[in-house]
Amino acid sequence: MKSIASAPGKIILFGEHFVVYGMKAVLCSIDKRITATSQFIDEKVIRVRSSLGESEISIDSSNNLEKVQQKFMKPFFYIAQKAVKENSIKNGIELVLESEIPPGVGLGSSSAACVAATASVNGLFCKLSKNEVVKIAVQAERTIFEQNSGADSSVSTFGGLVSYDLKNGFENISSRNDLSFIISNSAQVHNTQDVVRQVKNFKEKNDELFNKLCKLEIDIVDDAMLSLKDNDLNKLGSLMLKNHDLLKQIGISTEKIDLLVQEAKKTAYGAKITGAGGGGCIISLIDDSNSEDTLNNLRKISDCFVTKIDYSGLRYS
Ligand code: MEV
Repeated sequence: MKSIASAPGKIILFGEHFVVYGMKAVLCSIDKRITATSQFIDEKVIRVRSSLGESEISIDSSNNLEKVQQKFMKPFFYIAQKAVKENSIKNGIELVLESEIPPGVGLGSSSAACVAATASVNGLFCKLSKNEVVKIAVQAERTIFEQNSGADSSVSTFGGLVSYDLKNGFENISSRNDLSFIISNSAQVHNTQDVVRQVKNFKEKNDELFNKLCKLEIDIVDDAMLSLKDNDLNKLGSLMLKNHDLLKQIGISTEKIDLLVQEAKKTAYGAKITGAGGGGCIISLIDDSNSEDTLNNLRKISDCFVTKIDYSGLRYS
């Protein structure tokens, strides 16, 4: 018996990093997924295979996550060990992850992998609700990234266009905006945890400035919520550029990223970093009127693709 589940990646429209300090973020899931397939195996091991590598640990060793060589694999062993313990099984589990989402570029690949893996592994025993899945997925991701806000896992699980803050969790933005974005990859791979730590250092050294930037972020997000209701692409685009400027001020942009944003804003409604930054991707807001021109411009300097909002979130198959 195989248990298969898939979960989408995400982009952050507004509020990355500031969400870690309690501000509201706006994000959506995208039409690129990670699929997790689990099955019982005879060997008494938990084996995880992904395009990035293969690793296994014994099912008896209940607390040996520290021994996992490849750090990015830890969350998956956490998920599988928890399921093994709670269901006291004698045989092992193999988990295979297949991804359409490039890793380490701000598109939520590790959260999507945790969500899909949680649903798939537990589906071998009984299907969990989306609320149960997101809880375990966030705990799993926190084994390697303690400050994780939970925003990425929430949108990957529930799908759609949502707002998220630490206190209230996620909330659907009910207007079904048919937004389109170009995602351009700077090809500069980042480590989310390192960039979040870098922002923490910035905050500690520049407390007053950081508080000022938080207030500006709150205004941007408030305006963005209204502009989403009105489907006002011009306003949304200019708010994205303002948000990019705040992200630059906290030190998470790069020369390449700024160049991409400069190019994009010649024809798109607006553009900004999405996700942790320190490289990674930018998003450009487009529609039919400017999609081709923007793509042509950006393709000269980066790999790009067009994406739309995914409204389904976690799917069992
Ligand atoms: C990463 O996609 C988004 C950050 O805000 C971190 C987080 O929310 O956990 C940088």
